[in-house]
Amino acid sequence: MSLEDKLKELESKRAEARLGGGKDKIDKQHAKGKLTARERLELFLDKGSFEEFDMFVTHRSRDFGLDKKKYLGDGVVTGVGTVDGRQVFVFSQDFTVFGGSLAEAHAEKICKIMDMAMKVGAPVIGLNDSGGARIQEGVVSLGGYADIFLKNTQASGVVPQISIILGPCAGGAVYSPAITDFTIMVKKLSHMFVTGPNVVKTVTHENVTFEDLGGADTHASKSGVAHYAAENEPDAIRYVRELISYLPLNNMEDPPFVETDDPVDREDEELNSIVPDNPNKPYDIKDVIIRVIDDARFLEVHADFAQNIVVGFARLGGYSVGIIANQPAVLAGVLDINSSRKAGRFIRFCDAFNIPIITFEDVPGFLPGTDQEHNGIIVNGAKLLFAYCEATVPKITVITRKAYGGAYDVMNSKHVLGDMNYAWPTAEIAVMGAKGAVEIIFKKDISEADDSEKMLEDKTKEFTDKFANPYIAAERGYVDDIIEPKRTRTRLIRALRMLENKRYNNPPKKHGNIPL
Ligand code: HXC
Repeated sequence: MSLEDKLKELESKRAEARLGGGKDKIDKQHAKGKLTARERLELFLDKGSFEEFDMFVTHRSRDFGLDKKKYLGDGVVTGVGTVDGRQVFVFSQDFTVFGGSLAEAHAEKICKIMDMAMKVGAPVIGLNDSGGARIQEGVVSLGGYADIFLKNTQASGVVPQISIILGPCAGGAVYSPAITDFTIMVKKLSHMFVTGPNVVKTVTHENVTFEDLGGADTHASKSGVAHYAAENEPDAIRYVRELISYLPLNNMEDPPFVETDDPVDREDEELNSIVPDNPNKPYDIKDVIIRVIDDARFLEVHADFAQNIVVGFARLGGYSVGIIANQPAVLAGVLDINSSRKAGRFIRFCDAFNIPIITFEDVPGFLPGTDQEHNGIIVNGAKLLFAYCEATVPKITVITRKAYGGAYDVMNSKHVLGDMNYAWPTAEIAVMGAKGAVEIIFKKDISEADDSEKMLEDKTKEFTDKFANPYIAAERGYVDDIIEPKRTRTRLIRALRMLENKRYNNPPKKHGNIPL
């Protein structure tokens, strides 16, 4: 065969691989309103940057007629490309081949790019669209999943891992995305569950739809499994590209610094009046965040889940930062099980990948009640505390208003190694709110007083004057400075610059034992 013929043969095989399960199946995929595995990669990666691996891999199974059904690539497209010029590894499951189901060869391809990603230090982005374990290959498929779970775990904290769910993801298959750092779903298109509606009906007699059981909205708002519920596939891809812009490629790098035209010394007068005089009146902490960060650009993570805490990425003076903020506009910003889990995991991600943590604090304490206690607010709140204590990246806090009780300690106080802790003059750093405190310490006096109401009022005022301010904490150095709100941006950026070469290590150990 001449070289020309050989090249033709190569091109015809490539064309065959690109067709996946064939034109009919591609049409079917489009008819469902879904893109194909390759169209997704084209949308996600920089134009022309994709280098494919293992295009000619096929399965080796002979059972149930599989020996007569071979597709080049075995139902997953894998390789390397760039996002904004930065290298990332990808796999994109091809639903047109055996419903994207995972078996031996398919799993080997995914493991290969994960190994390479760890070797060269680049993120792994998985585009999932699969019917789960390929039934015909039996336990070999299960083995393939387990190989991926192991790699996910080994890569955790070494390279960022992001899962985009663009179709079904059921049974044990859900555990790979769950181990990765971020899971993005698409409304009405993606479903994740350990057991589907039919099994649920058989076992628990519950009637539930796919959407209610494991749709994007469910996981983004109720379970917290999804970090973002996208409107459609391009929206999911846009979100992930933006997310990557804040991250280093691996744990040995710093996140990218991006020059900004937003002046370091920009002051915002509105910040001086954003906290209402009445301590029981809410305000939106996102108004504070947006006014402080570069160009008002905030990529919120978990926006629909545990909204009493806000987490997300932004830049300050060009530095990529992770922001954690109590949200007084939702449940008064109280800490509960879900908000503790949400913020704790986010902090650990930032710490693993050298992203400084900025905390905005306005927290009245932990949420009381049997529901919270019986479901473990103690261990769940401890996750957040543990995460803050353990984090060694630069950690800066701004107390805007309430810093009460145990929540004061937890929310990156100086005591848990906050590097720079600022308070606004509106801060109230105390064991608890004035009225509650007075009702406890003057209980007897108030009940015996001629005018109990008046006494409660007077004592509350006395307590407020004495304790509901930042000065007692400042006298002890528990806050490093009391700053004018409008200058928050400048002070944060200066602190980030000061901390740029921070060196601090926890004692050597195999690993800690976070209260899971
Ligand atoms: C082999 C599969 C498959 C699978 C789908 N297909 N799932 N082939 N193994 N797991 C094939 C179908 O036979 C069909 O082939 C093609 O993919 C498209 O499937 P459809 O059913 O036509 O598509 P759709 O109507 O969109 O339904 C998609 C689906 C459904 C909801 C995913 O196919 C389904 O329920 N599949 C089974 C899911 C499942 O039970 N998987 C095992 C879960 S347990 P043809 O040739 O007809 O086009 C598991 C354990 C993992 O995954 C454990 C890890 C520890």
